Amino acid sequence: MSLISALYLLLGVSTAKYIVPGGRWHDTDGNLVNAHAGCVTVDQDTGKFWLFGEYKVEGQIEGGGVSVYSSDDLATWKSHGLALEPIADHPYISPSNIIQRPKVVYSESTKEYHLWWHADNSTYGLLLQGLARSPNISGPYTFDSATAPLGNWSQDFGLFTDYKDGRSYALYSNGDSRDGRDVYISAYNEDTTALEKVVHRFDKFDLEAPSIVQTDKSYYALMSHKTGYRPNNVVAFRADSLAGPWSQPFTVAPLNTRTFNSQSGFTLTIKGTKKKTYLYLGDQWDSNSLWESRYIWLPMEIDDKKKTLELEWHDVYDLDVKTGEWAPVKGTTYLAADAKTAGNAFKQEANFASKGVIATGIYGNDSTVTFEDIKGTGKPQWVSFYYQNTDDMGFGDQPGGSPDRIGGAWQLRRVASVIVNGGTEKVETLFQRDTNKGVIISTPLLLTLKEGKGNTITVGGLWNGFDYKGADLDKIVVYPPEGSGP
Ligand SMILES: *[C@@H]1O[C@H](CO)[C@@H](O)[C@H](O)[C@H]1NC(C)=O
Ligand SMILES: *[C@@H]1O[C@H](CO)[C@@H](O)[C@H](O)[C@H]1NC(C)=O
Ligand SMILES: *[C@@H]1O[C@H](CO)[C@@H](O)[C@H](O)[C@H]1NC(C)=O
Ligand SMILES: *[C@@H]1O[C@H](CO)[C@@H](O)[C@H](O)[C@H]1NC(C)=O
Repeated sequence: MSLISALYLLLGVSTAKYIVPGGRWHDTDGNLVNAHAGCVTVDQDTGKFWLFGEYKVEGQIEGGGVSVYSSDDLATWKSHGLALEPIADHPYISPSNIIQRPKVVYSESTKEYHLWWHADNSTYGLLLQGLARSPNISGPYTFDSATAPLGNWSQDFGLFTDYKDGRSYALYSNGDSRDGRDVYISAYNEDTTALEKVVHRFDKFDLEAPSIVQTDKSYYALMSHKTGYRPNNVVAFRADSLAGPWSQPFTVAPLNTRTFNSQSGFTLTIKGTKKKTYLYLGDQWDSNSLWESRYIWLPMEIDDKKKTLELEWHDVYDLDVKTGEWAPVKGTTYLAADAKTAGNAFKQEANFASKGVIATGIYGNDSTVTFEDIKGTGKPQWVSFYYQNTDDMGFGDQPGGSPDRIGGAWQLRRVASVIVNGGTEKVETLFQRDTNKGVIISTPLLLTLKEGKGNTITVGGLWNGFDYKGADLDKIVVYPPEGSGP
């Protein structure tokens, strides 16, 4: 611990970094955190968090291997390289194989960490579960096998360990074929080296990306619909026992936000000294540049009496992993209704927007909206941009589902330029993923404003692959620098 953080601790000020869903997260070396669709495994001895995920680089589609990071606060991540490295010409872990949704669990009986994943060839023709092992949580993991679970198919893979008896379960959708379209919960043997029996089958819902969160009374199974890398409405089922009976599925986030533009994949329970906090660890895929995909980590509000589970959106929050407590960070709001427009940008009546006004027409980088007289600190600060994107990519939640527009080519996002205090030397790129008409959500950028009042933030339209189009703006919220507490 540094002298400064020790001092802050004495003063009762949090030094922890914030969790910022959808932001560009950098590791301690300054690289993007590159661990997609993975899991966080807690080292039982040290309490350290280990993040595993699919490693993706620009231009590469599959087979990047499994990366691993460690953290003490779930916000500061140190890279430990690849836990599972692809091997040329290997039948299951070559660079052309699919190595997806890795999950790591400790096996008491083998005294090893077991890494399981969806193992496949590039055309999803194998549908297997891979196993690799290591005596060390950080790896390197050695390939063991790739098998068909209980003789069946396995696509999107999840793993859940029941805290009551320590038993682990594999969760997997069994593919998109006519005979598939189910999600299985199957129990591992004591060693977590093979599956023993099917515990439950979610029949023909055609869901994927399964994960289970356990409270004292309930199990909640979260899954997404099948829309590729496009986000959709994640649903949950509830049960008293893993074998069921399971409830009807219900959505976990406001409709038309597409689960705040994320897909389910993992959940993490923080058993703090004061509070148990349940975190949703979702993926915000970017099919235009997969390697740039982001993470949507949010607290889940679970009420076992009402049998409900909801994701709680916060732009920025401060989580204390020791106590389990978290609090949203308060920011300062600047409305588009009070901003200056230029070019084709203009303010338009919108009864769902702040003060009934939204800034629209931000088409081309000479059409801009400028927020004025913003107070800054001279340090990097998260700024959330609240926007509406009316391109209507549709839901596609049902098989054959498609964008809402006739002949409309589906686009994941609009893109805007963001400039602090004028000039052109430093232009930030803001991705504004699809929402729906009347649905405003936010996406953040880390910006440095000068200390004091009088800063401006100017937003213009950038090329999104089809048009120079930024999304409509409702407001921005400027957050205090990290380490200054909620
Ligand atoms: C993947 O495996 C399936 C089943 O063996 C096979 O039909 C398909 O050709 C394989 N794809 C590739 C790219 O090897
Ligand atoms: C386990 O991994 C850690 C972190 O990468 C490393 O410092 C340590 O030497 C490793 N231990 C063994 C036995 O490989
Ligand atoms: C494989 O999955 C199909 C579809 O869910 C199911 O009908 C069949 O019983 C399963 N077979 C085994 C061996 O589990
Ligand atoms: C601004 O938009 C024009 C097209 O409208 C484009 O040619 C130019 O490269 C853009 N400039 C920047 C800085 O993006």
